Amino acid sequence: MADQSSKQLLEDIRARNDIVETIGRYVQLKRQGQRHLGLCPFHQEKTPSFHVNPQRQIFHCFGCGAGGDVFSFIQRIENVSFPESIQMLAERVGLSYEFNREERPKDGIDKNTLFQVHEALAAYYYDALEQAKPDHFARRYIIERDLEDARASFQLGWAPQDTDQLLHWAAAQKITLPALEKCGVLIKNERGSGYYDRFKGRLMFPIRDEQNRVVAFSGRILDQSSPAKYVNSPETPLFTKGRVLYGLHRARQAMVNQRQAIVCEGQIDTLRLQLAGFENTVAPQGTALTEMHAALLKRYADEIILLFDADTAGQNAALRAGEALLQAGLSIRIAPMPQGEDPDSLIRASGAEAMKQILDNAVSLVTFHYGLLKNREDLSSDAGIMRASKSILEVVHHAPSAVQRERYLDEAAALLGVTADALWHDMRRMIRPSTSSAAPLTSPVKPPAHPPHEVMLIELLLSHPEITDFVHQYLPTDGIQDLICQNIIRKVLQHPEPAEINMLSELSDEPEECRRLVAEIQMNARRIQSDDEEISPLSVAQDLLLTIWRRKIEFKREQCRKQIASLPDGPAQREMMNESAQLTILLKNLQAGWTRAQPILELELD
Ligand code: CTP
Ligand code: MN
Repeated sequence: MADQSSKQLLEDIRARNDIVETIGRYVQLKRQGQRHLGLCPFHQEKTPSFHVNPQRQIFHCFGCGAGGDVFSFIQRIENVSFPESIQMLAERVGLSYEFNREERPKDGIDKNTLFQVHEALAAYYYDALEQAKPDHFARRYIIERDLEDARASFQLGWAPQDTDQLLHWAAAQKITLPALEKCGVLIKNERGSGYYDRFKGRLMFPIRDEQNRVVAFSGRILDQSSPAKYVNSPETPLFTKGRVLYGLHRARQAMVNQRQAIVCEGQIDTLRLQLAGFENTVAPQGTALTEMHAALLKRYADEIILLFDADTAGQNAALRAGEALLQAGLSIRIAPMPQGEDPDSLIRASGAEAMKQILDNAVSLVTFHYGLLKNREDLSSDAGIMRASKSILEVVHHAPSAVQRERYLDEAAALLGVTADALWHDMRRMIRPSTSSAAPLTSPVKPPAHPPHEVMLIELLLSHPEITDFVHQYLPTDGIQDLICQNIIRKVLQHPEPAEINMLSELSDEPEECRRLVAEIQMNARRIQSDDEEISPLSVAQDLLLTIWRRKIEFKREQCRKQIASLPDGPAQREMMNESAQLTILLKNLQAGWTRAQPILELELD
C-alpha cells in the first residue's frame, strides 16, 4: 500500500465514495447545518449521536466513540479488513483494486474469474428464457405462476436442456470447462469421460451476495424429470451456504431504513414479498438459518420477523432460527402462515394487505414458543410447567442483552403463571461463563483512552496549522508517550504543508485507531478564536509543551531516584543525587511559565 501509485488509487477511491452518500446507504441521515446526523449503527441508541462531516469526509459517534473515514466505516459495518473495504469501495465506483489476499490457486481460476463466469452464466440463462418462444414450457410456467415481473427484477432464467448449447456458448465466451466445473455447473461424470449439467432444464435463480455479485444459482424443476424440486450450487470459493441470504442485495437498503428484516423460507416467497412492497425480505439459501446469517442481518436490522409454515417442521425451524438470531442480539417476532399457505400463495390469492395483517400480528419469540408448548405439554401439571419453563429458558438465556432477557422472562412469567423471580433463579444456574461468539456484536467496544494533553495537542495542531513550526521546535523527542498520538503528531510535523494536510489519507497506513481518533478530534475541534493573549493558540501550545516536558522530566527524576535507592553510598550515588537535584530545579522553572522555561528548553533541546 505504501508506494505512490497505490496511494493515489486509494485517494481516487476515497474521493469518489462520498462519505455522506456511502453511510447514507446504511444509516438514515438528517442534515443539520454543516453536519449529517443519524442513529449510530454500532450501538443501540434512541437519540442520534452519530455525526458525519462532509467537509472533512469523516464520521464520529459521540455515544460509543466509533469514527474514522469512509474506509473505517465500511470495515466496521461490513465486518471486513482494511484491504477488503478498499476493494468494496473501489468496486462500487468501477475502479479496480487488487489486493493479494487470495493466493493464486493452482488451477489458475481465481475468485475474480469465478465472479465473471457466474455473471456471464446468469446472463446466459436469462437470455435463454427471454428468447424462448411464448409457448415454451419455461415461459408458460413463468406466466402461470405470475413471475413475469420477478423474471426481470430477479434475472430469472432457464438452463437449456441441451448441454452442448452451454458448451458452445462457453467456448465462444472463452470460459473453460474447469471453470464451469469449479462453479458447480458442470459435474464430471464418474467414468471421467464427460460432464453432467447440474441445472439443465431448470428455472434458474441467480443468487447474489450483499454486494450484488452472483455467487451461486438455484434451479427449480419444471417437469417431473427429477425428484429434487430445487438444486443449488455446491459450496465454491464464492458460495458458503450458511452465509448467503437470497434477496439481500435488494433488501439491504429497506432493512437499514426500517431497522427491520423479514426472513422467509424460499426464493419465490422472497421475490413475491419484495415485489409486493415488503422490500426488506430475505431467505436463507438451501439451509437453515445460521449464526452467520444472524451476524449478516445484524449489520442492517435490529428486529427480525420470521415467516414460517404453520406445520410442525416450520414451527421447529422458526424456533431454531429464533435462537440463532437471539444470540446475535436481534429482537425476534414470529408470524406463522395460515395452514397450507406460503407467502407466495397468500399474496397471489389475497393480496399484499392480507400479508401485512399477518406481519402485523407477528408475536414475540416467547409468546410463539409458549403457544407451541401449550399444545405439547399439560400446563396444569407441575411437571408440565417445569418442562415448559425450562424449554423457554433454554432459548432466552442465549440473549446477550440483560435487558432483553428481562423482558422475555417477564413475558414468559406472565404466560406460564409463575413469578419472574423464579425464572431468573433457574436461568442463572443455566448461564455459564459466556463464551458466546455473539458478544462482540452487541457490546460496543470502548475505544482506548489516550493522554488528554496529547490529544489536545493534536486538536490544536489540526485546527491551527500556523503553530506547527513552533511545536516542532519545542517538542522533545520521545515526549509523546501514546503510540497512536505519536503516529498522528509525527505525520503533522513532518508534513511540508500542514495547512493542506488531509489527515485521514496521511494515516491510511497506520493503525485504524489513528483514524478513529483523528475523526473524533476533528468532529470536536474548535478553533481558538480570541484576541486575548492568554488563550491564543500559541499560549495553549506553550502550556501543552510545558506539560509534556514536565512529564518527561518527572519520569527521568523518578528513574534517578530509583537508582539512588539501589546504589551503595559512594561517588556514583552522589552523582545521581546531583542529577536529581538539577532535574528538580528544571521542573521548578518549567512551573514558572513559558517565559522562564523557554531559554532552558532551548538548552535542553540540542
Ligand atoms: N429448497 C432446497 N432444496 C429443495 C427444496 C427446497 O434448497 N429440495 C429450498 C429452496 O431455497 C426453496 C426453499 O427451500 O426456495 C423453500 O422450499 P419450498 O417451500 O418447497 O419451495 P417454495 O419456495 O414454496 O417454492 P415453490 O413455490 O416453487 O414450490
Ligand atoms: Mn411456494
